Amino acid sequence: MEENKSTKSLVLNLLRKNGSCFTSGEDIAKELFVTRAAVWKAIKTLEKNGYNIEAVTNKGYRIIEENTLPDRDVISAKALSDAEVESFLKDVDLMVYDRVDSTNDLIKTYAAEHPGKDAIIIADSQSKGKGRRGRSFYSPEGTGMYMSFLIHPGVSLDKAMNFTCMIAESTTRAIRKVTGLDVGIKWVNDIYYKGKKISGILTEAVTSLEDGSLTDVIIGIGINLYEPYEGFPEDIKDKAGALFAKRDDSNLKNNLYAAMIAEFYKDYRLPEKYPYLDGYRENSILIGSYVKISSNLDDERLPKGYAKVTGIDDDCRLLVKYDDGREEALFSGEVSVVKY
Ligand code: BTN
Repeated sequence: MEENKSTKSLVLNLLRKNGSCFTSGEDIAKELFVTRAAVWKAIKTLEKNGYNIEAVTNKGYRIIEENTLPDRDVISAKALSDAEVESFLKDVDLMVYDRVDSTNDLIKTYAAEHPGKDAIIIADSQSKGKGRRGRSFYSPEGTGMYMSFLIHPGVSLDKAMNFTCMIAESTTRAIRKVTGLDVGIKWVNDIYYKGKKISGILTEAVTSLEDGSLTDVIIGIGINLYEPYEGFPEDIKDKAGALFAKRDDSNLKNNLYAAMIAEFYKDYRLPEKYPYLDGYRENSILIGSYVKISSNLDDERLPKGYAKVTGIDDDCRLLVKYDDGREEALFSGEVSVVKY
């Protein structure tokens, strides 16, 4: 297995290096010290992974690179074409990169240099993608979507977490609109498809050192659009999923980014017309189900046990009813919930 994996990467690198020129199977085999059969197998795997490879008898192979990188102008034009949010989006700075450490971290630097300005940063991959509770977020190139919003909503710190619910809801709506796939929200900040996590959200707040007020809210969202070329890493492979197994429509990524931006701004700027909590409740996969609650912190006083989820309150807390009849409203930072 490992052998095939590395041959695949080496073949890919070689084809990339040779650009639009054909390379024969024999030359590839010679250069990489592998058999022709191994080259053929690697080519087939690359094709399965979504690479478009042209094969011509007596000439060999060459890679016809699809443009998998997000395109700033296409995304911007599409998002702005949504008349409901055009006026709000006009003042938002949109930046698109191939690779960054973390879009959340980069937008924090931007925030410090552009006080009060709303912005969006998108990257095709992240070398230090951040997850919740200090974990990392696997962010490989070509197959995922990584985006951070910087907003200045002027609310108190305890309301910052509501933006997590807001983006979970607006993104779920955007995915359904663009792909037609039946995705759902697992409280508080994960989006699931066919029983697997396909998206995670990390909301961070910057407060003023002077008066402790909330100056910036940063909402980062990552989506596994396609399965990573090398598969998911061992530690997440049972839980993580992707919206699609294989890449086909090269414009899907741009369309989805644009829809995510437009739908988020509808919830954020037009709350009367788009009451995000109603949508969040409707798309929540936990309401009505039986869950196991475990405490995230080493604190005996925190809730744990089995309970039925009865709803989600206006502060985005999970309402549960234990077997003994006790009811509780759970905060996201305190507990993890597993559906049964
Ligand atoms: C989680 O599921 O633990 C949250 C994952 C959040 C990942 C996104 S990807 C874009 C933004 N930049 C980051 O470094 N993290 C968030």
